[in-house]
Amino acid sequence: MQTVSKKKPMHRKLADVVKLSAAEVRGERISDIQEEQSIPATSQAICVASGKGGTGKTIFSTNVGVLLARNGFKVTLIDADLGLANSHLLLGLDPTHDVSQLINGELLIEDVLVEGPHGLKVLPGGSGIAELAELGEGQLTYLAQQMLRVDEENDITLVDCSAGITQQVLRFMASAHQLVVVTTPEVTSMIDGYAVIKNVHKLRPDIKIWLVVNRTKDKDDAQHVFEKMQQVVKRRLGDVTMRLLGSVPHDRYVLRSIMLRQPVAMIHPRSYATACFTRMANTIGMDNRRWRMLQKKAASPDPAYFQSLAGRRYG
Ligand SMILES: Nc1ncnc2c1ncn2[C@@H]1O[C@H](COP(=O)(O)OP(=O)(O)O)[C@@H](O)[C@H]1O
Ligand SMILES: [Mg+2]
Repeated sequence: MQTVSKKKPMHRKLADVVKLSAAEVRGERISDIQEEQSIPATSQAICVASGKGGTGKTIFSTNVGVLLARNGFKVTLIDADLGLANSHLLLGLDPTHDVSQLINGELLIEDVLVEGPHGLKVLPGGSGIAELAELGEGQLTYLAQQMLRVDEENDITLVDCSAGITQQVLRFMASAHQLVVVTTPEVTSMIDGYAVIKNVHKLRPDIKIWLVVNRTKDKDDAQHVFEKMQQVVKRRLGDVTMRLLGSVPHDRYVLRSIMLRQPVAMIHPRSYATACFTRMANTIGMDNRRWRMLQKKAASPDPAYFQSLAGRRYG
């Protein structure tokens, strides 16, 4: 594990740096950028969300992140479960710094990003830091502005969100180009998953949703859960683009991989769970190629994720 850049930490107060933005770095005023000029996204932001905690968002994000990176995609995984982060743990990383040093202005984004397996970049969240769970407006904007500086280096930005529907999480989700909702077949998990979809849909009626059904017990579970969710979504919200991305069984190799702090896709490449993650990573990869091609041609391309996040476009 090593930091991506060896730049010396810069010790500055948040009050001094919060105004610094990608736009200003390029000598432009942030208000011009946010209000008049939308920066076309070159990196596709995929937010991984769930209503209930413990559905498998981090298992999904880390495995799919590593598989996409192995397939040659440039991927950054943002651990947006900012106060109770654990993505780095499941990737076997032991980072020296985390997002709290970025937010308080001690370090710049290049100093906090760490490199994981197959060149996957990770922005580690803070573990057990309550203040990070709900950032202030200036802090969230600053975080987004810092990320915007390195956004062009990525094909895909995976955002591993915290559970629930707080204003902060909704803002992370509603700014995304694609939303992944992870649910288990439990009815409570499905109801809370629907609550996420409903609230994001209010802010972004056009959002595209992939459903992932985790911890399935048999082969019909996933389709059954998907059909039930789709029925409710259609009846209550109308026309929403929701597809089944895939499913993962409740699997002892997944449990073992957590114990060993390595993605199951790396340590049990022949397991059924790995086959499931591989299929989903391949679908995401194909979709990303198509998305990037369309972005280049589109008359009004999707705006850069971190610009939307910084500019309070949604939420
Ligand atoms: N496919 C699976 N098979 C077995 N256990 C799983 C599986 N997915 C998740 N788990 C269990 O659920 C826990 C929570 O998973 P995690 O990805 O950390 O959830 P989240 O990020 O949504 O809070 C894991 O630590 C593990 O014990
Ligand atoms: Mg998690």
